[in-house]
Amino acid sequence: MNSKSIKVRTVDLTKKFKLNRKETITAVEKMNLEATSGEVLGILGPNGAGKTTALRMISTILQPTSGTAVVEGQDVRENPLKVRQSIGYLATEMGLYGRLTPRETLTFFARINGLEEGLIKSRIEEVFRILDMEEFQGRKVNNLSTGMKQKLSLARSIIHDPSILIFDEPTQGLDLMTSKTVTDYIQDFTRENKTIILSTHIMHVAEKLCDKVAILFDGEVKAFGGMEQLLKRHDEESLESLFFKVAEDGNN
Ligand SMILES: Nc1ncnc2c1ncn2[C@@H]1O[C@H](COP(=O)(O)OP(=O)(O)O)[C@@H](O)[C@H]1O
Ligand SMILES: [Mg+2]
Repeated sequence: MNSKSIKVRTVDLTKKFKLNRKETITAVEKMNLEATSGEVLGILGPNGAGKTTALRMISTILQPTSGTAVVEGQDVRENPLKVRQSIGYLATEMGLYGRLTPRETLTFFARINGLEEGLIKSRIEEVFRILDMEEFQGRKVNNLSTGMKQKLSLARSIIHDPSILIFDEPTQGLDLMTSKTVTDYIQDFTRENKTIILSTHIMHVAEKLCDKVAILFDGEVKAFGGMEQLLKRHDEESLESLFFKVAEDGNN
């Protein structure tokens, strides 16, 4: 069996933003990364490094300026709809409708993500159970706590049972309990041989969750590989020290 098949690959993935008539910035430059099944790939970098831009291109929210990404064999430029069916994207902003209940929210997103009508109800029950949401499933989103809303936005991103998750700063701003729910979910998800790409600027989150990391500065991947292998190659003991070493090398 192809237990280690490549699920996501970026090929010279590049995004430039035109700021005004004169200035263009390159948010992501010729990014070449790979994530296989059962793997958590972390994209690490300081604020402004290009993490969100890269994840948005992989998730078909933004068009690359050049290069591309291939997700489950589908090119994001050619088949964005197919790509969307196989991924769950969790953004930092929650994007929920205040007047709907969690159950209504999930029914809505299950439908727009193309989950078969007959499977929706049982999948919603399953997600409520996995994320421990049963208690507040009937309340309006406007009346939920921040932690409950965060769980709902996670639920929303996984409702169609995607094989690939793309999480932008998944533990950012979460309380301790919700953060644990998210990290437990990530670990269970990869046990099912699924793939996660997440961004973070918090090294201990990466250390705990990621099998592989890409260190991004100014839109460029400065180091990429298995966590252990990278630490060994650079003779560093922690991801944090590796991160600063790579940052310094970049400034020379
Ligand atoms: N829509 C946009 N228009 C112009 N510049 C942008 C836009 N989105 C991001 N940028 C710029 O691209 C760079 C990378 O941003 P981003 O991908 O959000 O970084 P990160 O998620 O690592 O903090 C930053 O310099 C940011 O200001
Ligand atoms: Mg970001």
